[in-house]
Amino acid sequence: MQVTKNIYNVGVNDREVDLFEGQYIVPNGMAYNSYLIIDEKIALLDTVAQGFYNEWLKNIKDVLGDKKVDFLIVQHMEPDHSYNVMNFLKENPQTKVVASSKAFIMMKNFFGEDFLDRQVVVGENSTLSLGERTITFVTAPMVHWPEVIMTYDAKDQVVFSADGFGKFGALDTDEEWACEARRYYFGIVGKYGAPVQTLLKKIGGLPIKTICPLHGPVLTENLGYYINLYNVWSSYQSEVDGTFIAYTSVYGNTKKVAMLLKDELEKRGEKVAISDLARDDMAECVEDAFKYSKLVLATTTYNGDIFPFMKTFIDALVERNYQNKKVGFIENGSWAPVAYKKMQAMLEKSKNLTFMEQVVTILSACSKDNLEQISNLADQLLNK
Ligand code: FEO
Repeated sequence: MQVTKNIYNVGVNDREVDLFEGQYIVPNGMAYNSYLIIDEKIALLDTVAQGFYNEWLKNIKDVLGDKKVDFLIVQHMEPDHSYNVMNFLKENPQTKVVASSKAFIMMKNFFGEDFLDRQVVVGENSTLSLGERTITFVTAPMVHWPEVIMTYDAKDQVVFSADGFGKFGALDTDEEWACEARRYYFGIVGKYGAPVQTLLKKIGGLPIKTICPLHGPVLTENLGYYINLYNVWSSYQSEVDGTFIAYTSVYGNTKKVAMLLKDELEKRGEKVAISDLARDDMAECVEDAFKYSKLVLATTTYNGDIFPFMKTFIDALVERNYQNKKVGFIENGSWAPVAYKKMQAMLEKSKNLTFMEQVVTILSACSKDNLEQISNLADQLLNK
């Protein structure tokens, strides 16, 4: 796939992967992009995942014919991109390897070999001349691993952004970019908002016509839209003024109260999303918790603690630096309800959360008192 006159995507689509990175469902598969920059010298940016070596080599050959690759640029060592580094270098002894010093250490760990006689070690603002163009490297530690570099081609004004601006889904999938890019971002990079902010500042001053991520489509139009979303996500701002209700329910009583709160909020004109943490995709729930400005957690007391899916959910938020939200609680407990206290304690580590004073405490099933509590909670969430 041609990106510019001299840049091609020679990556592959993976329709077989069951769980990306061992945990994320990807109903529309994954794309592992890999790019060729053709000049007097030829640079290949990143390889592809296990199982796609021959398809990838064919894509390269379709573009290059018998020409050889001078530089293999390894921007990121996670195996969805680096799996075939060793295979490629074994078969292409003329190719030099361009990567950060940390990436070479990882190569030794992954492959037992760090290609000492073929290394080109690059760091912040290092350059590499390919002939007509000189490309520049930008370090991007923790976006998404510490060794990551990104690459800028000033001639075509292209940023090769490694995992940045990536999304779930194969390239032949017709779906909204933001939904699967957000789920990908908060799942995989969400913890690292500060490094993403640093990166956005570094690339902010560059003229950019095209963003070439290692997953998902090449971005060529309306780049401000994508960059702005990355800024919102990485600075932990909310994208939507509204409430996300996340619940677990064993026999339907907690769900009923969660649904009643949804109705109360909607009556007041609030935008509301609701998910069952046991049945809906956890990564989608995490994404929604960051997307909306308010969060309500509803769960049962269970083994003197909280229901397992809620525990997993709150852990996922806290470890991703969840912050800057209003949070309400609904708890259920037939004899000794402790869910509210447990949930609040888990969230104490998070910054700038405002907990609503009104807690809805269900003692088995929804009562008249609960109806009043639900109404109060709705008011407090909306500051009425
Ligand atoms: Fe797509 Fe962090 O690897």
